[in-house]
Amino acid sequence: MAAYHERTKHHYYRYAAAPDYLDWATQPDPFRRYQGAPLIRLPLPAPGQARPYWGLHVSGSLTPTELSVDSVSLFLRYALSLTAWKRFGETTWSLRANPSSGNLHPTEGYVVLPALTAIHDGPGVYHYAPKEHGLERRSDMNSSEWTALTAGFQDCLFFVGFSSILWREAWKYGERAFRYCQHDVGHALGTSSFAAAALGWKLFLLDRTEPAFTSRLLGLDRDQDYAGAEREHPELLAVVVRDREAAPPGIYLSQAMLGQRVASRWYGKANPLSGEHGVNWPVIEQVAAATESPTVAADEDFTSFPSEEELFEPPVRSGACTAEKVILGRRSAVSMDGSTAISSVTFFRMLARLVPTRDRRSMPWDSVSWRPRIHLGLFVHRVDRLSPGLYALARDPDKIEPLRQAMRSEFLWSRPQSCPRGLPLYLLQEGDCRSLAAKVSCGQSIAGEGIFSLGMIADYKASLAARGAPFYRNLFWEAGLVGQVLYLESEEAGIRSTGIGCYFDDAVHDVFGISSRDWQSFYHFTVGGPVEDSRLTTLPAYNTDSDRPARS
Ligand SMILES: Cc1cc2nc3c(=O)[nH]c(=O)nc-3n(C[C@H](O)[C@H](O)[C@H](O)COP(=O)(O)O)c2cc1C
Repeated sequence: MAAYHERTKHHYYRYAAAPDYLDWATQPDPFRRYQGAPLIRLPLPAPGQARPYWGLHVSGSLTPTELSVDSVSLFLRYALSLTAWKRFGETTWSLRANPSSGNLHPTEGYVVLPALTAIHDGPGVYHYAPKEHGLERRSDMNSSEWTALTAGFQDCLFFVGFSSILWREAWKYGERAFRYCQHDVGHALGTSSFAAAALGWKLFLLDRTEPAFTSRLLGLDRDQDYAGAEREHPELLAVVVRDREAAPPGIYLSQAMLGQRVASRWYGKANPLSGEHGVNWPVIEQVAAATESPTVAADEDFTSFPSEEELFEPPVRSGACTAEKVILGRRSAVSMDGSTAISSVTFFRMLARLVPTRDRRSMPWDSVSWRPRIHLGLFVHRVDRLSPGLYALARDPDKIEPLRQAMRSEFLWSRPQSCPRGLPLYLLQEGDCRSLAAKVSCGQSIAGEGIFSLGMIADYKASLAARGAPFYRNLFWEAGLVGQVLYLESEEAGIRSTGIGCYFDDAVHDVFGISSRDWQSFYHFTVGGPVEDSRLTTLPAYNTDSDRPARS
């Protein structure tokens, strides 16, 4: 796994191994379907839902919605649905609520639901079909199985599962693809956490669940359903509960709870996504296998973290946008204008959203059990009343000193003026770092022409030593969660952002003077004033309900 990380670094002098050219003939279908599985088309939620965006971040501020076909539909609309079709000339492509590296969408989503009117008269396992905004019933479950599955949780509503089709990313990105698949899972975990929050529910990652359990529950281990089709790798399971107090951190599902599922009835066969596969990248399967055994959860202590009042002075209990506008309007900027600036108040608020609070009620950080392992090395270009330069955000206050030790000794580590006292943000070095930011992000100008960009520096070696090799995935998921918060915060602030998977790993370390392999750059991001591409036409994600049969 450490060898995988090293060999998939991009360097100035050599990119990680990838196809020499894009073989369009084998481009994977972005839509998995299970042919033969009953499809339930979900009613499209009426636009104009009034819940405020700020309410998503403050646990308990929104009243829980009843579980029904309509609320499941809204959950999936916000978590994984299409948000638009784009057209350029003869070519059309779709965008989704969850972003994806290269828009290739390796993440497949599942829900395990109880009996629900207008869905099915018994519990079942469903694959989400985003193009149809529908649920494919993969398997029936009897009520005693459902009871066994939900026994550990009070007020359990349903389960969410994710798998990755690694080939979708490998087709374009070769060996580095495993990293991108994990980032995408992190983003999807983020969209799902926010979708649950928008309904007044709470999503918790079941982080000790064995991958074999996930495979069995979701049917990913059924060889007969994938003949000639790309396999899906189990990623994670999460539970959605009505009451956040009902599921303490560190909860998981065990094999015993799935005892009776062997005899279940299954429906559908997976569609092949590419006629044939070009180059194979065996190292991807190897790293997937090496990071698959169950992780050991430890309930970590958050008492040294700031309170909401210390992070946000004063707490943010109002805002410009509805949750719907932010979630469905989220887009990546394809280019930045090089001129838009934001106030330091907005900048501090965006960063404060990335730090968990002491009471463990800040979203989406209370969906996962571990303390932050991802810290930020920032390239700040245009924030009013803040010097341009390099900054550091230690997302865990206890990591300020270790980061200071790991980074360049001449860095200033001074506190920016008017920075909220609970926000662990430090100025490292003043100066114009626009071209440096673009240079280390594979020369992408979006990193230099935005308001700020950043490298996510993982507390890599210590985390893996403490939590084991499978936690490699969690580091990417956490980076994806950080990215998802930045995407949404940018929408709220009237600007845009973009995930950056292409960066020169060790060059980023050099910028911050990190010479030890203990810390590794895991993801990049840029935030700024977008420039829209006026050559593109935007079309609605879905036809209206009147054109859509309820079932097919
Ligand atoms: C993990 C990840 C890595 C990405 N890397 C880049 C990148 O290096 N450069 C870039 O311009 N966009 C990058 N993007 C943005 C995607 O291209 C974008 O999410 C995708 O085209 C879908 O568009 P949307 O975000 O507007 O839905 C990345 C996105 C993700 C999630």
